Amino acid sequence: MSIKLQGLRGMNDLLPDEAERWEAFEAIVRDWLKSYGYRPIRTPILESTKLFSRGVGEHTDIVEKEMYSFEDRLNGEQLTLRPEGTASCVRSVIEHNLIFQNPQRLYYSGPMFRHERPQKGRYRQFHQVGVEALGFTGPDIDAEHIVMCRRLWDDLGLEDIELELNSLGDAEERAAHRGELIAYLQAHESELDEDGKRRLHTNPLRVLDSKNPAMQGIVEAAPKLMDFLGEESLKHFEAVQFLLREAAVPYRINPRLVRGLDYYNRTVFEWTTSRLGAQATFCAGGRYDGLVAQLGGKPAPACGFAMGMERIMLLWLEGQDTDVPLNSPDVYVVHQGEAAQPFAFRVAEQLRSAGFAVVFHCGGGSFKSQMKKADGSGAAYAVIVGDNEVAAGVVALKPLRGDGEQQAVTPEALTELLADRLYGDSAV
Ligand code: HAM
Repeated sequence: MSIKLQGLRGMNDLLPDEAERWEAFEAIVRDWLKSYGYRPIRTPILESTKLFSRGVGEHTDIVEKEMYSFEDRLNGEQLTLRPEGTASCVRSVIEHNLIFQNPQRLYYSGPMFRHERPQKGRYRQFHQVGVEALGFTGPDIDAEHIVMCRRLWDDLGLEDIELELNSLGDAEERAAHRGELIAYLQAHESELDEDGKRRLHTNPLRVLDSKNPAMQGIVEAAPKLMDFLGEESLKHFEAVQFLLREAAVPYRINPRLVRGLDYYNRTVFEWTTSRLGAQATFCAGGRYDGLVAQLGGKPAPACGFAMGMERIMLLWLEGQDTDVPLNSPDVYVVHQGEAAQPFAFRVAEQLRSAGFAVVFHCGGGSFKSQMKKADGSGAAYAVIVGDNEVAAGVVALKPLRGDGEQQAVTPEALTELLADRLYGDSAV
């Protein structure tokens, strides 16, 4: 009996049409990052489990129940497929002493892994583009991140998006708030749902993040972290908002925005959309001034954000024509006959040397069936070589889109003619 092998639940194949769109998106994103002076960093997908339990937080959903962790069979080490990129980036920056003298503007992109219940916009392997700025203290870098996001959304033409903003203050302010919050939640313990009871002592701030309608009354009346912020935190938050207003970026302050990872302090933000159903947040981040020291580095301020590629692609592609392959070749080479094949092969290489994208027909077949393939490839032109052409030392150039006559031309003259047809005044 044959076994049917399938990909894993929540982990997607990107077939060529989709993968080409991803590449187009990645090219836009690379240019955008470059225009703000960010440089790439690539870290391994597999890290020590400790990095994430320490970095992301023991009592977060990610560490408690979503990580793909396993023991290295050879040396017993506990390993984890990265659920996010910030901890790895900070680990690498510390290990290679990158912020010894200079602050760093960095970015990465790639797959992340979380064992969540898959649905539209939520997967077990998903992809992020992450941006991290390390070594900057002032509110200007927080604002830069938000403003640069706004520019990308504008460039992509995304619609129906909103920016939510909050400040989580500093460690002492959160500790003072936490004390009062726990006391308040304990007084209402019997009204908490299961998650709320569990989080009451481990991660009480996350109780405020509850989506359970039955909990909304308790959450609304809970002590607000904002009321515990000191002068410095408030000043920082004010300055971020001032820069956003200056840059004409609309935002909404959401005092209940707490984020699902423990490393944040002060500014946190989420970009949401009404177009993706339950998975509304397509980009999120904030300041994490304590993480570098927590992971063993010399204390250094930092902030950053990450966007979920799958969610952004869903938003972006809504406005695009999805029938047209993005990367059609310029030329499809059709050939038949023993002498025609090597001749056509040489012509194809010659065209590639001149910079054209060329698909060489492989697998034989009649001219008719080859021309069908040429048409289906989306190429603008077919170059046709048969015995007659070889005998005359020419090829036939046939337009596949629009009108235009087939024309015989020597291989030497072909490059220029094609360039003229594709890019000149008479381009089809
Ligand atoms: P995060 O909010 O956990 O933050 O993830 C960032 C984004 O990744 C989310 O807003 C969402 O778009 C996408 N995402 C998360 N989980 C999934 C999933 N299961 N399926 C599809 N997309 C998903 C972080 O990861 C932080 N490291 C961001 C950051 C960078 N903060 C500072 N620097």
